[in-house]
Amino acid sequence: MAALPGRAGDNRITGEQAALRRVATLVARGTAPEAVFASVAEEAGRLLGADRATMGRFDPDSTGTIVASWCCTGPAFPVGSRWSIGGPNLLTMVFQTGRSARLDDYAGASGPGAKARELGIRAAVGVPVSVEGNLWGFVAVGSRTRPLPAGAEEKLAGFTELVATAIANAQARMELRGYAEEQAALRRVAMLVADGAAPEKVLVAVAEEAGRLLGVEYTAMARYDPDGFRTVVGAWSSVGVSFPVGSRLKLGGRNVATMVLQTGRAARVDDYTGATGVIAEAVRNLGSNAAVGVPISVEGRLWGVMVLDSRSGPLPPGTEERLAGFTELAGTAIANAEARSALAASRARIVATADATRRRIERDLHDGAQQRLVSLALDLRAAEAAAAAGAGDVTPDLDRVAAGLDDVLADLREIARGLHPAILADGGLAPALKSLVRRAAVPVHLDIQVDRRLPDPVEIAVYYTVAEALTNAAKHAGATAVDIEVSIADRVLNVCVRDNGCGGANFGEGTGLVGLKDRAEALGGRLHLDSVPGAGTTLEITLPVDEPGGPKTSHGAEELPDGASVCENPGLSSDGSKSGEASLRSEASKSGGASLRDDGSKSGDPGRADYV
Ligand SMILES: Nc1ncnc2c1ncn2[C@@H]1O[C@H](COP(=O)(O)OP(=O)(O)OP(=O)(O)O)[C@@H](O)[C@H]1O
Ligand SMILES: [Mg+2]
Repeated sequence: MAALPGRAGDNRITGEQAALRRVATLVARGTAPEAVFASVAEEAGRLLGADRATMGRFDPDSTGTIVASWCCTGPAFPVGSRWSIGGPNLLTMVFQTGRSARLDDYAGASGPGAKARELGIRAAVGVPVSVEGNLWGFVAVGSRTRPLPAGAEEKLAGFTELVATAIANAQARMELRGYAEEQAALRRVAMLVADGAAPEKVLVAVAEEAGRLLGVEYTAMARYDPDGFRTVVGAWSSVGVSFPVGSRLKLGGRNVATMVLQTGRAARVDDYTGATGVIAEAVRNLGSNAAVGVPISVEGRLWGVMVLDSRSGPLPPGTEERLAGFTELAGTAIANAEARSALAASRARIVATADATRRRIERDLHDGAQQRLVSLALDLRAAEAAAAAGAGDVTPDLDRVAAGLDDVLADLREIARGLHPAILADGGLAPALKSLVRRAAVPVHLDIQVDRRLPDPVEIAVYYTVAEALTNAAKHAGATAVDIEVSIADRVLNVCVRDNGCGGANFGEGTGLVGLKDRAEALGGRLHLDSVPGAGTTLEITLPVDEPGGPKTSHGAEELPDGASVCENPGLSSDGSKSGEASLRSEASKSGGASLRDDGSKSGDPGRADYV
């Protein structure tokens, strides 16, 4: 009857449709792809009356992997077995053409074809499986007895669309799951960064989150150092041992850390057997065979690298992109920390500057204005004593004190403004020291053998050292004579102040001597104190000075051909009159220095001028 062939045809169609429906139901239920593959292999094999059916995936390294296998009798090809693509066989034909293929003669087949021949296969048909436009794998059926019927290709193709849908769905689910996990991991790290956690903590967290997310064995965050090394700053491992934090390895060779440094971009090595350099060696020693590295940038500059090392072959494509969020957070944490430490450093500098300024004002007041006030107080006492004793008119003495107080006021104003005595700035050491000597309450002999201006800090230090030493001599020593020598030799300035008082000076009781020591040492110099009780006090400072050659601008230098000058202050006697106390000086006279006696007569080297 006419209906029979039709019924027979209907049956076949029904059988084919039923097979497809069963597979489609699995796909619609979201069944795992492996189960869908197994069902496809069996349904396709049965539908086409084949002896065997297989499904395989093409891998990027030009191999095929069996993902499902069915056999109507006996054992099937084991799932997971891999074949190299190449040679005359069905798998290679599908791979190379991307279309369905048919092999009706297995005599010359190689690779998987040879294996099929051993299993008795005489003919086979295969079709490609494409997922989202890309060749993904194949479905093939084989027969031990006869070529497969015409149209077998079309029937198989019906399954491949379902397979593709199952794979695409599964991939989408995996991606979705991966995306959610990635977001959660990023959120955890972001919270740390937002809380201002120390960068070390953030970097370790990034290493761990990224490592876990991507299922690798090792993750390391490393900083590029200027000396061509990289230092591990955060590391994680799923297998216990990892790169120790702080460990340094030399960059160079073919490995991802070096490649990222060279290109500033993400890099991967899918097979570490060909990698070189000490870093590659270390990675291999850990048992890793593939790696991906992504740059860590901090405010636009390449700062370091995050490296993921795998023991189980190449990391999936797109790993680089998935790491970008993590390295961005790492970069932010580092930038925040750098900004914080820069802020701390600048605060420290401001505090240090404020401290230094306060100390300077304190010292300058102490060593400058105070010593003048001490002299003036002594002057005033002398005048008071003279008045009480009815020893004549004290008006000139009081005038001198009043003028001295005016000077001190001017000094105080200058110190408050951060300036030093004008006479020092304008004239240099010689006139400034002479003015100190003139005002001193103790008879002083000054011998200054310096023929040029010295750096400001040196002149200032010498000025205040002499001022403090003179104040101490008046205040504590009960001295009747002070000798001051200032000389320069071998780029070292030497200042020696010697009194003939009671001795016993020490650094412990006040701040004056300690302050002088600090001044000298701050300039790379030394202070030496020699003050045995009963044997007077010698205070000596040495300060390094630059190569001579500066213009001779000091008053002393202008007025003296050889730059030397000597000055004496006879001091005030207890009755307020000038006395011509013998000076302690002798080094100056011994060495040819000249001095002007209070009688105005000159002595010593005629080449030198003397001042009072
Ligand atoms: N030339 C000196 N002769 C004898 N004793 C001295 C002499 N210079 C300092 N001393 C002693 O050493 C101590 C420390 O001197 P220093 O200059 O450091 O402090 P001060 O003069 O007491 O106080 P400040 O200088 O801070 O106003 C003095 O208190 C004093 O006892
Ligand atoms: Mg003092």
